[in-house]
Amino acid sequence: MSTHIGAAPGEIAPVVLLPGDPLRAKWIADTFLTDARCYSQVRGMFGFTGTWRGNRVSVQGSGMGQPSAAIYVNELFRDYDVETIVRVGSCGALTETVGVRDVVLASGACTDSSMNTHRFGGYDYAPVADFGLLRRAHDAASAMPDVTTHVGLVFSSDSFYSPRPELTQRMAEHRVLAVEMEASALYTLAAAHDRRALAVCTVSDHIVTGEETTSAEREQSFPAMVEIALGAALD
Ligand code: ADE
Repeated sequence: MSTHIGAAPGEIAPVVLLPGDPLRAKWIADTFLTDARCYSQVRGMFGFTGTWRGNRVSVQGSGMGQPSAAIYVNELFRDYDVETIVRVGSCGALTETVGVRDVVLASGACTDSSMNTHRFGGYDYAPVADFGLLRRAHDAASAMPDVTTHVGLVFSSDSFYSPRPELTQRMAEHRVLAVEMEASALYTLAAAHDRRALAVCTVSDHIVTGEETTSAEREQSFPAMVEIALGAALD
């Protein structure tokens, strides 16, 4: 096993879906996978492997925020030879052209995190999604008549409760569609390991209008996002 994932070599599939919430990982495994088996419960951060349409796939909880997600992403790439990670999570919309329950495919990720400041010695780096995954996710989403999809930048913030709303506003003024908390670290680490990554996010709340989804609505919009992620990674 690795430091934070209790799986034996070979127990994790080359394709991993990465929700922040470990109970979402269990829900995805129960709902979408055949013969799903739990490979890790370390710190309650569940991981499961099963099959979807005959392909092996794993689902691993990452926790919230880039430092937590980076632990799991590093270990999945480094210790388990994972090829593809697709984050499935929520985001807050930053512009009125994006509505609650819409899906945002993050083509790139800005950040206020110091993780890349340290990695690049203070210089800027532009973390981007794998283009093949992004294109297939867009194809899968376009085939869903009830889903409105946007492709563009997200802001991967270290703070859910922002201490600098004016920074979020500045991001919105530079065509950033939504705020979430993990994509920048995921894309950076995928590049560093020469692997593939994408973040697919459902809009759970709207920073401009203040609109929020209920937990029941979130449950309804979540399956489309998972289908898009599985379609992008495995079809
Ligand atoms: N995920 C969902 N909503 C968010 C928000 N408002 N800020 C950061 N991450 C989020």
